[in-house]
Amino acid sequence: MAPERERINGVIKEDLKEILFSEELIKHRVAELGAQISGDYAGKIPLLIGVLSGSFIFFADILRFIDLKCEVRFLMVSSYGLSSSTKGSVNIAAEIDFEIAGRDVIIVEDILDSGVTISALRDVITKYVPSSLRICVLLDKPARRQIPVEVDYVGFQCPDEFLVGYGLDYAERYRNLPYIASLKPEVYS
Ligand code: IMP
Ligand code: MG
Repeated sequence: MAPERERINGVIKEDLKEILFSEELIKHRVAELGAQISGDYAGKIPLLIGVLSGSFIFFADILRFIDLKCEVRFLMVSSYGLSSSTKGSVNIAAEIDFEIAGRDVIIVEDILDSGVTISALRDVITKYVPSSLRICVLLDKPARRQIPVEVDYVGFQCPDEFLVGYGLDYAERYRNLPYIASLKPEVYS
């Protein structure tokens, strides 16, 4: 990937191994995904559900490339605590207090890793009988899949490394990086 001048070159960068997806590249791909969703849902009013916290920047960006009437909700979901791999159980922080029945739902998530989070969320949402359900993830890390999950919109395939930035965190840090980078293993092990 062409090295380009990045906005964040300060103290955080010491913890990073490599920038994998630059700000420009992400912007370009997010615009493409937004256009694709706009075409696929033409004439509909989809309900976009952002999975917090990791998707907050991706969600905010893709939303502005969706040229449709759409509704926006968030679910706070966690499985990690302060560790760097899934604990295998998924916690949805609050009751779903909005109407899903009969809606065209799109779940927007930062990264598909083991598949535990997305498959649990899919099961929960399905119980509320949406008229359709699709999943949009910015990153897909297939190497670590434990549960097979089909997703409909994928930004990038990524290698089996711990990634941070553009909303993704390690222990709640690094979310503010405008690009996506791998973290030096010594930082999280
Ligand atoms: P899964 O349940 O293992 O598929 O993991 C999905 C969740 O784990 C995502 O919502 C992310 O919040 C988090 N996650 C997985 N891989 C990474 C990573 O490389 N960096 C930061 N968060 C990650
Ligand atoms: Mg997440």
